[in-house]
Amino acid sequence: MIVAIDGPSGAGKSTVAKAAAKRLGFSCLDTGAMYRAIAWKALADGVSFDDVEALGAIARDNEIEFGHVEGDPVPRRVFISGTEVTDAIRTSEIDRAVGPVAAVPAVREALVAQQQRIGRAGDYVVEGRDIGTVVFPEAPVKVFLTASAEERATRRVKQNEERHVGSTNYEEVLADIKKRDEIDSSRAASPLKPAEDAVHLDSTGKTIEEIISFICLRAEQAQ
Ligand code: C5P
Repeated sequence: MIVAIDGPSGAGKSTVAKAAAKRLGFSCLDTGAMYRAIAWKALADGVSFDDVEALGAIARDNEIEFGHVEGDPVPRRVFISGTEVTDAIRTSEIDRAVGPVAAVPAVREALVAQQQRIGRAGDYVVEGRDIGTVVFPEAPVKVFLTASAEERATRRVKQNEERHVGSTNYEEVLADIKKRDEIDSSRAASPLKPAEDAVHLDSTGKTIEEIISFICLRAEQAQ
């Protein structure tokens, strides 16, 4: 069974998806991490973001895998072709590079195929932008999670401070979030938009617990 959670950057998808998966006894797939890993590899290999052929080849030829920190059931470690990029994909440089890379149709095609292979192997909470619309349109539970850009920027700054990666400058983070929203929503290939049958949840002013309980209840009802 698939629980699809889509929404813009910083709406709380990762926190909610990981906690809901833990509670439901499901695995959890962070598809944003996969686009980030391709952007990281493109930068590492010196591939231009205009070279859509080369970007597509990177996505087709490199397998992305997830790993566990001991004792934690949620897979938080990310590897691309065996190289660990868990922290390297959370920098401001990748925040800015990932939008253009994720807009390349050949990159999306390769990653969607990987995501479908992973998700079909078990019960998953899958988070991203196009999970309910493109990757798993048949998912019985679809949530579109939003929050105001300002609230999302505040949360992202706090998260970056805790992780010691990425920018902790509010104005810079807010500008990046708005820019990424625009790229994600206006791109031709799988733009960020809610599935027709998705439940809309605005997390502004709500506790994480309220959101998680709602999603788990929906998932239990659908089982
Ligand atoms: O979720 P996260 O912010 O880590 O995602 C990084 C970027 O990856 C997004 O801004 C978006 O450009 C891209 N993405 C996507 N489709 C997904 C997941 C992420 O285009 N399913």
